[in-house]
Amino acid sequence: MVKPDGVQRGLIGDVVSRFEGRGIKICAMKMMKIPKELAERQYEEHKGKSFYDSLIAYITSGPVVCMVLEGDNAITVCRSMMGETNPQDAPMGTIRGDFALHTSKNVVHGSDSAESAKREIELFFNDYEIQKYQRIDEPWLYEGKL
Ligand code: RTP
Ligand code: MG
Repeated sequence: MVKPDGVQRGLIGDVVSRFEGRGIKICAMKMMKIPKELAERQYEEHKGKSFYDSLIAYITSGPVVCMVLEGDNAITVCRSMMGETNPQDAPMGTIRGDFALHTSKNVVHGSDSAESAKREIELFFNDYEIQKYQRIDEPWLYEGKL
C-alpha cells in the first residue's frame, strides 16, 4: 500500500514502478480513503500500543493506493525493497531509505507474512478485483522457464 503521505508526495508511480521493474506482478490495484473501521481491522495487531491512535489517524488521513503483488518470495522481496519501518534505519535504494525520514510517515505498508497477506487481501479486495494472468516476461524472470 502506498500510504497517504506517499500519495500526497507524488510517489505512487515511483513505488509501483520499482515493484514492476523488479518482476513483481501487480494482480490488483485501487485507490481509496480507508474508513476508520477498516483501518482498525488492518492494524488490529497494534491496538493498545502507544502509536495506535496516531497510526489510525495517519492511515485514514487521505487516499491510499492498495495493491496485491505476486512473485517468487514476494513478501520478503517487497519488504526488503520497502526498507526498515524506521526510515532512518532503511538503506538508500529502498523506498523508505530514499523517500522518508520518520516512522510515522514511512510512505508504504506491506504485509509481513503469508497469513497477514491473506487477511489483508480479504479485507481490501473482492475476488473479482484480483487478476490471475501471466506477464510475458515471466520466462525471462524465472529460472527454468525458457
Ligand atoms: P507496515 O505494517 O505499515 O508495513 O509497517 P511495518 O510492518 O514496517 O511496521 P509495524 O511494526 O507493523 O508498524 C505499523 C506502522 O505503524 C507506524 N509505527 N509507528 N511511532 C512508532 O513507534 C511507530 N511504530 C510503528 C508506522 O507507520 C508503521 O509502518
Ligand atoms: Mg506491519
